[in-house]
Amino acid sequence: MAASPQTGNDQKSQKLATILRICEKMSEQRDVSALLDLVAREATLLLDADRSSIFILDRERNELWSKVALGSDEILRFSADKGIAGACTSTGQVINVRDAYNDRRFNSEIDIRTGYRTRNLLAMPLEKSDGTILGAFEVLNKRRGTFHGEDEEVLRILAAQAATAIETTKFIGDLTRTQEELAIQNAQLWREVESRPHHIVGNSPQIQQILRLVERIQDSTVNVLIGGESGTGKEAIARAIHFTSLRARKPFIALNCAALPENLLESELFGIERGVATGVQPRMGHFQAADGGTLFLDEIGDLSLTAQAKILRVLQERVVERVGGRVGVPVDVRILSASNKNLEEEIRQNRFREDLYYRLKVIHIVMPSLRDIREDVPLLANHFLDAFAREHNKGRMQFSPGLMRRLMDNPWPGNVRQLQNEVRRLVVCARRPVITEDDLFEGLPQGLQQPIPAPAPVPVAAKSDGRPRTLKSAVEDLERQMIEQTLASANGNQQRAAKMLGLSRQGLINKMKRFGLS
Ligand SMILES: Nc1ncnc2c1ncn2[C@@H]1O[C@H](COP(=O)(O)OP(=O)(O)OP(=O)(O)O)[C@@H](O)[C@H]1O
Ligand SMILES: [Mg+2]
Repeated sequence: MAASPQTGNDQKSQKLATILRICEKMSEQRDVSALLDLVAREATLLLDADRSSIFILDRERNELWSKVALGSDEILRFSADKGIAGACTSTGQVINVRDAYNDRRFNSEIDIRTGYRTRNLLAMPLEKSDGTILGAFEVLNKRRGTFHGEDEEVLRILAAQAATAIETTKFIGDLTRTQEELAIQNAQLWREVESRPHHIVGNSPQIQQILRLVERIQDSTVNVLIGGESGTGKEAIARAIHFTSLRARKPFIALNCAALPENLLESELFGIERGVATGVQPRMGHFQAADGGTLFLDEIGDLSLTAQAKILRVLQERVVERVGGRVGVPVDVRILSASNKNLEEEIRQNRFREDLYYRLKVIHIVMPSLRDIREDVPLLANHFLDAFAREHNKGRMQFSPGLMRRLMDNPWPGNVRQLQNEVRRLVVCARRPVITEDDLFEGLPQGLQQPIPAPAPVPVAAKSDGRPRTLKSAVEDLERQMIEQTLASANGNQQRAAKMLGLSRQGLINKMKRFGLS
């Protein structure tokens, strides 16, 4: 029996009231993904259909993508020339398909991928008020019969509202994201300014030469590769390069490549988009965070070959692409990198890319080990003494000449960092303003090896083969000895032994490898 005109009008005004309610809900949404979900759900109910999909046009790639395609969480992407959605987007016309598999425009690939069977569908362009088409809105499988004229009318109103809401939400989303990124950058900047690096201290020709080089490259943005043993000041010089450069007011981002698990590497470096997996929040990567400034890649020799290839690409193209992102984001980043590995040897062993190496090593700085710049020990020790005495409110403090001689004679396998740690301990434990050799053993737990051995009985005479001993091999012997002893007294705990030696854990591991200690 046909519906009376009265019933028809009632149904129409009921539908209009529902559309109005949906529009109100839409205007409350600030998130594109949630908005698309909402519109698709409501359209399905209102048009008595089985499912709905919203396809958004990515103009740069000429692709259509859908987050809510057929109710799945997965992002579908396909060429914008394909399917009914493609035809609807390119012509801007409503397309009502009564028998999908008999329509040559229909793209059955999506059905194959989702395991869904489309019988009929209605596609409406998502058109902004200025005529720009954002994509297509599809409702699938009318529960009874096929879609008709009234469905088109309803979908047209819904699509127009959705197009405006999508535009606004996208705009708000972009604005919020920019604001969040700015806040992060700003906080980072202030942290850097407040904790400005200590000056690089050193009168030795080696340090002076490095400082002159840093001064010479102040106005350029060349990449610098920094070598040197653990604790020699690689990061300190990287900070000095950044904070004396034209980029000083832009971010300095330090990243330890050795501490980065392979599966997180890409998102950490390049960022990630929302919706790549359930619950994933969009995040900017270190490259983008360092935009305009400097990215310090520490322990670069520990990067996998895959990671090296990805970084090389960014250096070549100066564009990063977030994981799950659709468009590349241009970045302007200066790369400073550091490694205590011999990278040329790594290249020979096919563990490091030669092309990346030459891009990173436009300028090469090698930080000297502390035993090679012994004349700087008093300067450094006093520099740290003043800083820590101030920090611990100890007034003016001094080292006795005897203690200073001991400090100068120590082999310092952990280099400047070890000296720094040792001075900190002396300052904290000393009872008088003049620190003497007696204070060396203050505050050390029972049974712990003395951190600074008495001048070691280094066998300077000939080796067993009768050849004269080099200073290098004597120092290495002493280093090995100290590491073995410290590991023993720390019961094999590498973390503790590294701390006692003033090395980073990785630094200790590297040395153990070099000396063949397990
Ligand atoms: N010439 C120097 N003058 C003043 N401070 C220095 C100097 N060299 C190093 N330092 C300080 O010594 C500590 C260790 O330096 P840094 O962390 O830069 O070493 P590193 O070579 O990066 O070590 P690792 O290889 O273990 O990462 C830092 O606190 C740094 O500020
Ligand atoms: Mg370092």
